[in-house]
Amino acid sequence: MLFLTSCRVSLSVIRLALPRNPTLVAKPVSPTLRASRLLVRFKSLSSVSTLFSMPERRPFVRLPTDVYPVNYGLRLKPDLIDFTFEGKLEAAVEVTQGTNQIVMNCADIDIITASFVPEGGDEINATGFNYQNEDEKVTLCFPSILQKGSGSLKIDFVGELNDKMKGFYRSKYMTPSGENRYAAVTQFEATDARRAFPCWDEPAIKATFDITLIVPKDRIALSNMNVFDRKPYPEDHSLVEVKYATTPIMSTYLVAFVIGEYDFVESQSSDGVTVRVYTPVGKAEQGKFALEVATKTLPFYKDYFSVPYPLPKIDLIAIADFAAGAMENWGLVTYRETALLIDPKNSCASSRQWVALVVGHELAHQWFGNLVTMEWWTHLWLNEGFASWIEYLCVDHCFPEYDIWTQFVSADYTRALDLDALDNSHPIEVDVGHPSEVDEIFDAISYSKGASVIRMLHNYIGDEDFRKGMNAYLLKFQHKNASTEDLWECLEQASGKPIAAVMNSWTKQMGFPIIVVDQEQHGSDRVLKISQKKFCASGPRNDENCPNWMVPISICTSEDPSCTKMKVLLDQPETTVNVTNIAPDHWIKINPGTVGFYRIQYSSAMLESLLPGIRDLTLLPVDRLGLQNDLFSLLHKQADMQEEKNRIERVLGAIPAPDLIQRVLNFALSVRKYTHTYCRK
Ligand code: BES
Ligand code: ZN
Repeated sequence: MLFLTSCRVSLSVIRLALPRNPTLVAKPVSPTLRASRLLVRFKSLSSVSTLFSMPERRPFVRLPTDVYPVNYGLRLKPDLIDFTFEGKLEAAVEVTQGTNQIVMNCADIDIITASFVPEGGDEINATGFNYQNEDEKVTLCFPSILQKGSGSLKIDFVGELNDKMKGFYRSKYMTPSGENRYAAVTQFEATDARRAFPCWDEPAIKATFDITLIVPKDRIALSNMNVFDRKPYPEDHSLVEVKYATTPIMSTYLVAFVIGEYDFVESQSSDGVTVRVYTPVGKAEQGKFALEVATKTLPFYKDYFSVPYPLPKIDLIAIADFAAGAMENWGLVTYRETALLIDPKNSCASSRQWVALVVGHELAHQWFGNLVTMEWWTHLWLNEGFASWIEYLCVDHCFPEYDIWTQFVSADYTRALDLDALDNSHPIEVDVGHPSEVDEIFDAISYSKGASVIRMLHNYIGDEDFRKGMNAYLLKFQHKNASTEDLWECLEQASGKPIAAVMNSWTKQMGFPIIVVDQEQHGSDRVLKISQKKFCASGPRNDENCPNWMVPISICTSEDPSCTKMKVLLDQPETTVNVTNIAPDHWIKINPGTVGFYRIQYSSAMLESLLPGIRDLTLLPVDRLGLQNDLFSLLHKQADMQEEKNRIERVLGAIPAPDLIQRVLNFALSVRKYTHTYCRK
């Protein structure tokens, strides 16, 4: 039975596929619980397809490796009135090959002077600064060769506290008395550290940072590390000089500073980390929920990864003007106000859940992303997909009463399936050349499909081996960089399963399969015929190169609908599976827990046999939700298949009203969530 021959496309799919401004089209049509991702990530598929149809990708070369940083000594003096800043960089560098120039990233910054002091040698002043504005680079030219060895690079520079919400920028806020003021804030991911100071702004070029901020003495000044010295600034008594402890070796995109007026609430996590939540002045109360989440979350991750949080403190701060939902700067996580603050009197349950998920997401990055960092932006999907999965694991641990995994299925999972069934979807893993492609490529597919395939992988491996593999990965690559393949290798070693082969089929090709299942009873055995083909919202494709996936398939029976009776790996177009000891009147269901990233098309008899489990609610809510979602997606079909259509409708009709109400409710909540997250004031 080919349900999909000439299937009509659903209304939402039609709307999503319309070649209009994606942000205008996508926002009202498919809001989800993960609404925060919409603004930044929801450039949606149309922008990606534009990118695919544009062959002229910007040429791009990485920074040369002949000079690299070991430590950045960085002093910054922002002016919150003129919106400028002065900076002084004194970087300890290694020259690996004699050269008379140093190439660094630099954007919207004016270099005043630059010089190089070889260890034990005389200062060499740079004779020219050659800006390559398009490439956001500067070449410092020296009159003589900088010899192989250690040295110190000194640069004095000035920049603007811009109003673009990237780099080092100004954020407007109102004091409780109604006065407008400005804070100075950073947002560096993916490639905007270069707007705050000249640097080697690539994730694999890690170094330590010694940061000093010169700020008005009545302002809060925060950076990644704890303060270790604070003294009056000799040249101006209204200013103080705040020095922060040396950071661990880290990537530039995780550096952060915030200077402004804030209140805070503080606590200590059970593993001894000082946690503070900074709020607008007068709203400290609204930071208490996030503080509770963060203090519960840190020990959860420490235990899950078997690796302690490596910094002495973590600050979570609500920023008035913030482009993304949140940003995982190491030790100083920045949030949009709606993703951090909970008004104990007025906020609703869905806002709490959202804050819990965002906090869980950004704190997961403190290990996965910050301690071990992707080698290049190509692997950003893994960073984000992983955090988007484990945030649910963490919230489920901290707040089991939320039943958060059901929301994962109704939000991320079904949304990813809907989008990825379109012809203009794209693989999760896309080669990123020029970093300007990062914002264009990372969308709901990277986040929601990324999280869904990690969830499937976790289920395929099993929690114990998954944790073993994660621990090995974090220990092996801590303070270094790694690629997607490195993670697969660690998980492969821990589990003895073919992780790379399985995962490549999900990350390197777009779309997903529909699993077609039929059954026959042979004595006390049930023989299942299982096959796969690509699921397309626009109808089946009959091309010969139909892609295949390596599909982890779990099977449960009516004996215990919540327990997997059997697991198989479908690594070819079709196979036969023998389920032993099953009575003829017992039903079989594929994909218990709705964990596998595929749709299922049961034979008529199998589908009808599921009716009792649906009616008496022995099938779990996520399974009824998954089934309902699959059936909806299969319902668009020709009139001559009316009988089949009727059968599907009968099963759909049997799914009790509360499930439907839940779906409608989820939809309504997601619209609300969108408003919460992105429509300020
Ligand atoms: N690291 C990202 C934010 C980011 C990604 C900024 C790529 C620039 C380029 C952060 O961890 C994140 O994923 N933020 C989400 C919210 C989160 C809860 C899903 C966002 O901002 O949409
Ligand atoms: Zn993230």
